[in-house]
Amino acid sequence: MLNLIKDLFLDTGHLNKDGIRIHNEKDLAEMRRACKLAADTLDMIGNHVEPGVTTEKLNTLCHEYMLDNGSTPATLGYRGFPKSCCISINHVVCHGIPSTKRLKENDILNIDVTCILDGWFGDSSRMYVAGQATKKASRLIRVTHDALMRGISVVKPGNTFGDIGEAIQQYVESKKMSVVRDFCGHGVGTTFHSAPNVLHFGKKNTGAVLQTGMFFTIEPMVNLGRPETKILADNWTAVTKDKSLSAQFEHTVAVTTEGVEVLTLSPMDKFFPSSKIS
Ligand code: MF3
Ligand code: CO
Ligand code: CO
Repeated sequence: MLNLIKDLFLDTGHLNKDGIRIHNEKDLAEMRRACKLAADTLDMIGNHVEPGVTTEKLNTLCHEYMLDNGSTPATLGYRGFPKSCCISINHVVCHGIPSTKRLKENDILNIDVTCILDGWFGDSSRMYVAGQATKKASRLIRVTHDALMRGISVVKPGNTFGDIGEAIQQYVESKKMSVVRDFCGHGVGTTFHSAPNVLHFGKKNTGAVLQTGMFFTIEPMVNLGRPETKILADNWTAVTKDKSLSAQFEHTVAVTTEGVEVLTLSPMDKFFPSSKIS
């Protein structure tokens, strides 16, 4: 017997015509747990970001927190990545490797964690500040955060991935900043990175159509200068070519019949570092 409910059920656990996995309610319950743990980890680490601390120390704290809560850090050993989170300071765009380098006053940094809990991946990143952010850095952080939220605001069944890209790009460029093209968001679930590529630029009404049951990340990287990046000799660290400051925020979201559920919201409302910003 075919009815709407049955059709939806038959579709779950399958790839749609664009190769994007459509999940069911049970998957969503699992995904909520993994994503909440990523958000809890990012809440926890915020209390330790201050001038003088090494990024290695922040990495260890994230590593232990994830393990203590029954999860494993997805980045550790992923394609040879050596650490349990990525920490990207100032002109580092993404994939910075934690090290013995100490934070100094005014540094801005992105910490990106992915927890694997019972086989499900929760992926999120936020900006933090050592001490207080300069005016320029504050503006960059605010615009990057708002760009992510504008992208999320157009997530609902029937809209397209191009709608997300356009919402982000239009906003960022209206503020005379630039969107990085070399990295994108991604499908996520029982694997770290799956279809589709979620571009942070583009044209509305293009790309795959959003469907209830999709899980993916939106994670715009925004530069104060030009969008071009290059990879350092460690084969991971991506930096702005012109050495301008860069920022990034990342949420994992689910498309629902109502529109969107943001799975990596901060339980303590710490997603945006308000108190560190001028
Ligand atoms: N968490 C990153 C993302 O948002 C991926 C990091 S992969 C690593 O997709 F190997 F650099 F850790
Ligand atoms: Co991601
Ligand atoms: Co991430």
